[in-house]
Amino acid sequence: MEASPHTSPGLSPAKLVIEGVSKWFTPKRNIVQALDDISLTVAEGEFVCLLGPSGCGKSTLLNIVAGLTRPDRGRVLADGKPVAGPGQERLVMFQESALFPWLDAFGNVMFGLKLKPDLTKAERRRIADEYLDLVGLAKFKHAQIHELSGGMKQRVALARALAPDPQVLLMDEPFAALDAMTRDQLYDDIQRIWMESRKTIIFVTHNVREAVCLGDRIVLMSPSPGRIQQIFDIPLPRPRDINSPELAAYTSKIAAALKGVTNGAVFE
Ligand SMILES: Nc1ncnc2c1ncn2[C@@H]1O[C@H](COP(=O)(O)OP(=O)(O)O)[C@@H](O)[C@H]1O
Ligand SMILES: [Mg+2]
Repeated sequence: MEASPHTSPGLSPAKLVIEGVSKWFTPKRNIVQALDDISLTVAEGEFVCLLGPSGCGKSTLLNIVAGLTRPDRGRVLADGKPVAGPGQERLVMFQESALFPWLDAFGNVMFGLKLKPDLTKAERRRIADEYLDLVGLAKFKHAQIHELSGGMKQRVALARALAPDPQVLLMDEPFAALDAMTRDQLYDDIQRIWMESRKTIIFVTHNVREAVCLGDRIVLMSPSPGRIQQIFDIPLPRPRDINSPELAAYTSKIAAALKGVTNGAVFE
């Protein structure tokens, strides 16, 4: 088979195949083309970052992969089957964690496990404990959500998303609202968790440094309409040190490319 330019070499099999996806919105009778002919293959266990300025269609593409939004053209295949709606094998984590404030940390993770009705309550409790421990919150199991910092809330959201053991994790700027120090810690954690669990991850960001720290590949998108501009392989060993010179070199190269697609506007 001929190798596609949108396929990561050496990795297989394909977990997600996005084929010729286009999407239009019609707010106030205007027509906005959010996505134009997006094709991308994501290998099983791969960590792909979608990078681009606001409005380039990152969230729309992620929601289409999640099955929350229907494409107007093209399709998405997960394990070779067309995605027709949301499924527990593909979970989404958003910037605002949407935790239930009336449940404690443990209760929120247990809620995620409702997707697994075949498990006994004891098994669900054990799994919830395991994932709270994995994200470093074992001691805060019974904390109320309002008692937690922004970073801790996102850790609970991450535990809640991971606990049902989805094969694909779709993350939409999950750390964008956090301060830089908290984000740096979360980069270490998400890498460690990904190396242990080998989920397939699509991670949306407008932050180049974040994309370089996390991604096996970075898909640079451009706006109006949303298109794939360029794909970068990041072959740096893991876990990656956010302050390493190698990472800084990739960051400046990709920041320059991003600047190109935003007509010179500077993004973080
Ligand atoms: N539900 C919607 N209704 C109307 N327009 C939308 C809707 N969702 C997204 N758009 C438009 O589609 C384009 C891409 O948006 P989005 O996917 O949110 O971009 P990003 O996540 O990269 O910021 C933007 O022009 C946005 O205004
Ligand atoms: Mg978005």
